[in-house]
Amino acid sequence: MSSLERKLELKGVDNPKLPLFLGGMGADISNMELAVAVGIAGGVAVRSSVAMDVITPNSEWFKDEGISVKLDNAGRMGIAEAVELELKYTREKIEGATGEQAAVGINIMCALERDYEESVRGAVNGGANVIISGAGLPLDLPKLVEKYAGKNHNISLVPIVSSARAAKIICNRWESNHHCKPDLIYVEGSKAGGHLGWHYETTQEPDFIEKYDVARLITEVEDWMEKSGNDVPLIAAGGLKSYEGIEKMLKNPNVVAVSVATPLALTQESGFKNEYILQLAKNTVSISDKSPCGYPFVVADDGPLVVAQKNDNDAFPICPGLIATRGMSYDPEKIKCLGYVWPISKGKDCPAFDSENKQCSAITKGNVGVPLITLGYNGEELLKRVAKEGLPTAAQRMEELIG
Ligand SMILES: Cc1cc2nc3c(=O)[nH]c(=O)nc-3n(C[C@H](O)[C@H](O)[C@H](O)COP(=O)(O)O)c2cc1C
Repeated sequence: MSSLERKLELKGVDNPKLPLFLGGMGADISNMELAVAVGIAGGVAVRSSVAMDVITPNSEWFKDEGISVKLDNAGRMGIAEAVELELKYTREKIEGATGEQAAVGINIMCALERDYEESVRGAVNGGANVIISGAGLPLDLPKLVEKYAGKNHNISLVPIVSSARAAKIICNRWESNHHCKPDLIYVEGSKAGGHLGWHYETTQEPDFIEKYDVARLITEVEDWMEKSGNDVPLIAAGGLKSYEGIEKMLKNPNVVAVSVATPLALTQESGFKNEYILQLAKNTVSISDKSPCGYPFVVADDGPLVVAQKNDNDAFPICPGLIATRGMSYDPEKIKCLGYVWPISKGKDCPAFDSENKQCSAITKGNVGVPLITLGYNGEELLKRVAKEGLPTAAQRMEELIG
């Protein structure tokens, strides 16, 4: 990468070789294998805390490695313990392979209110170098980190924003209440995978994609920073899927890194099963307003969410992505043990049921829906590539994206 004028700096860790973050992808799409591959290739290995309390005890990776996962008497695991364990091993694997210090991060969504503080505690105990937090405004993240890591901690704190207004609210609040600034601001544009930070109606406006493209949002955030005297380095995210696009972003001296999710989700190591990636490649995608937390989000048109809702109006699937990626079809009888996709009417049988609120506990306080794939994604291209040379590895994709 040629003209990097300002370098990515993370607290307490050698700077990663590449100014590239793996976009945190729940549930377990930015899994151990993918994060380790990204870390070994020189990027920042970001996991997502979504549902780790259920994912980790069922993890094939830990079983294969012969690592026993400690469960409580009910056979469950706390989210803090799960996050801690996952981060420790992510680091161990990368450092074992490279002999160098790894940069390990975690994405914790504000919308997962029930798990938020415990996920932060797990991140601190697991030695996260970076905590990235969006899907709401992480107004009190510095206070929580300080509570568990002390005042002089070495964790870079990174809010995700989709507007200058959100950046302003967060910076003002952090400054007045916590006497600090974000270490970096993650600007996520309209072409991002997963849930989107706008009202559904906004996403339906004809010029939505262009109007809120990451390049435009960055200009908006830069204008605000200039006016307000703020100077926080930026991470650009959303639809960055080519070398040219990434290089252009990084030519902006305020942009010190990019974050890439979908292109890396479509690789051999990702938490998506390879067969599921091919299924996605044949699909069209659209923005759905059906997210449990009220955010619009991008779904595959015949993906499990849409199918489940067509088949059963009562169904409130929490994470069909997880189910589908595990190669399971939408069958409530089979998947109830996971506690992710479950008709509310049958909630009392689900292990994740919150009896007080009479809902799946994962959604009681809001949850993020089914982030499947970005709008700009071209499945045909991927299918052609797979026919010719198979599904790329994460290292190959990183080489193509950032050299
Ligand atoms: C499958 C998938 C899952 C995601 N899960 C999360 C998540 O758990 N938390 C979050 O803040 N963002 C999530 N995102 C958003 C990404 O972290 C990232 O910011 C965004 O997808 C960047 O756009 P790109 O996919 O075009 O690279 C997800 C995206 C995808 C594609």
